[in-house]
Formats: sequence, structure tokens, C-alpha cells
Amino acid sequence: MKILLTILFFIGLLNAADAKYAMGKDIYETTCISCHGANGNAKTKVSFIVNPRALDKTILTQEQSYNIIKHGAHELGAAADIMPSFKSVYSEKELQSVAYYIRKAFKPHSEQRIDALYAKSDTIDASKKKKMLKRGAKIFKRNCSWCHGVGGDGAGEATRNPEMSIFPYNLVKTQLSEKQLFLYIKYGGKYWGTHKEDMPSWSKKYDDFTIKSVAKYIHEKMQKNDYVK
Ligand code: HEC
Ligand code: HEC
Repeated sequence: MKILLTILFFIGLLNAADAKYAMGKDIYETTCISCHGANGNAKTKVSFIVNPRALDKTILTQEQSYNIIKHGAHELGAAADIMPSFKSVYSEKELQSVAYYIRKAFKPHSEQRIDALYAKSDTIDASKKKKMLKRGAKIFKRNCSWCHGVGGDGAGEATRNPEMSIFPYNLVKTQLSEKQLFLYIKYGGKYWGTHKEDMPSWSKKYDDFTIKSVAKYIHEKMQKNDYVK
């Protein structure tokens, strides 16, 4: 009897997971596919000032993707408002299901990639924190503020030239963790699924200590939102 109940319990779980997947797939295919593509790789014919991201390459965890689907990308740092908020369109259950679906179907393996890349990077002595914040501030001012603005709000000089058509993120609002910030800066936007390479990879110019310093500086001195872990 006990065994039978256990089996039934797991079948129940499987069915629930299937139902969640099916619900997410349905939503994706009616609402998201035109922008993010059938395989989630954003190879679609749409053209906006900022193009959709490839969901099979995203750096985001399922929970972070859910946050973007619910609140829209702008709320979490994007300059443009093309990735809309779906909070008034779908129920909580539906929002959860589509976040679940895009991970199951497009397999970005974000956590595994984050851990593997991070493990390959130089380890830094925690006692260097003060030095890192100083270095991070200097590098940010020199290399990042032109696009992202001195305070990181995304409104740097470069955004004032309409011909450049550049849309840097507001780093006060980004939900990326310090680890993710480091890896995004190190490898650049395209590696993590952006359409253009406006946010370059900084690994040729700087070593891990410098890039980790900038990430720490952003994390401790700029980021201000309820989503950061
Ligand atoms: C009108 C086109 C459009 C539609 C429809 C759309 N998206 Fe997006 N999506 C975008 C764009 C553009 C971005 C990048 C935002 C930016 O950088 O400004 C994006 C970003 C995202 C991200 C963040 C990815 C990352 O790595 O940062 C997720 C997750 C996402 N979309 C999921 C969805 C889901 C799920 C749906 C359907 C419920 C959907 N999108 C519908 C255009 C769209
Ligand atoms: C030429 C302009 C430019 C410069 C210089 C630049 N960025 Fe960016 N950055 C962008 C754009 C544009 C994006 C949005 C992604 C995209 O469209 O490629 C971005 C995105 C980011 C993100 C991702 C935020 C998120 O939530 O997804 C981080 C972190 C970031 N930049 C940090 C930096 C740091 C640190 C520097 C300096 C070392 C820097 N950037 C220099 C243009 C720039």
C-alpha cells in the first residue's frame, strides 16, 4: 500500500510538471515566439531599437527570468521598454509556467555555465576588498561611465548621440548577482544572448582582479533593488 501511494505521488508530480510545461509552451507560442523565436534563439525577422535576446544563452536563472517576464525588462535595468511586463496579462501560475518552460525547452544551463566559468577565474583574497572598491570606481569612471553614466543609471554621454543608437542598462536596477555581473562584463553581452555587441567583452583588456573589482563596485555602490540576492 505504501509503495503504491508513493508511486501515485510521483505520478502526480510528473503530471503537474507536464501540465506546467504545457501551459508555459502554450503561452510562449502565442505571445513570445514572434520576438524570441521558435527555438528561443531570437532569430526572428522583427527589428526594434533593441532586439530580443536569445533565451538559450541567457545568464539569468529561472527566478530572474520570471522577474523580467512579470515586471518587464525596463523595471530591471533595460533602457528600452520593448520587453513588456506581463503581470496584468497572465496569472501568477501562468507567469511561473512560462519561466519554467523557457528553461526546460531552451536549456540555457545558466547556473552550470556560471559556476563553471567562475571556477575557472582567479580567486581573490577577501581582504583586498577596499583596494577592489577603489580600483572598481576608477575603472568604471574611465571605461563604463561613457555609456552607463557616472552613477550607473544608464544615461551616459554616448546615449545623447542619437546616431549611436546605444541603450546601456541602468546598473542601479539590474538584478544580476555580483558573480553574474563579473561574468557578464568579462564575456560581454553577445555571449549571454544579446543581439548586438554593444556591451563588449572586457577580458582582453583587463584581468580577473580588475573585472571582479568593477563588479564589486557596481554591486556595493550602485545596485539598489529588491531582486538582488
Ligand atoms: C515585442 C517583442 C517581445 C515580446 C513579445 C517578448 N519579448 Fe522578451 N525580450 C524582448 C527584448 C527586446 C528583450 C531585451 C530587453 C532589453 O535589453 O531591452 C527581451 C528580454 C527577455 C528576457 C531577458 C533575457 C535576458 O537574458 O536578459 C526574458 C526572460 C524574456 N524576454 C522572456 C520573454 C517571454 C517569456 C515572453 C512572452 C511571455 C517575451 N519575452 C515576450 C522582446 C520581447
Ligand atoms: C559602448 C557602450 C558601453 C560601454 C563602454 C559599456 N557598456 Fe555595459 N552595456 C552596454 C549596453 C548597450 C548594454 C545592454 C546589453 C546590450 O544591448 O548589449 C550593457 C549591459 C551591461 C550589463 C548587463 C546588465 C544586465 O542587467 O543585463 C553590465 C553588468 C554592464 N553593461 C557593465 C559594464 C561595465 C562594468 C562596463 C565598463 C567596464 C561597461 N558595461 C561598459 C553598453 C556599454
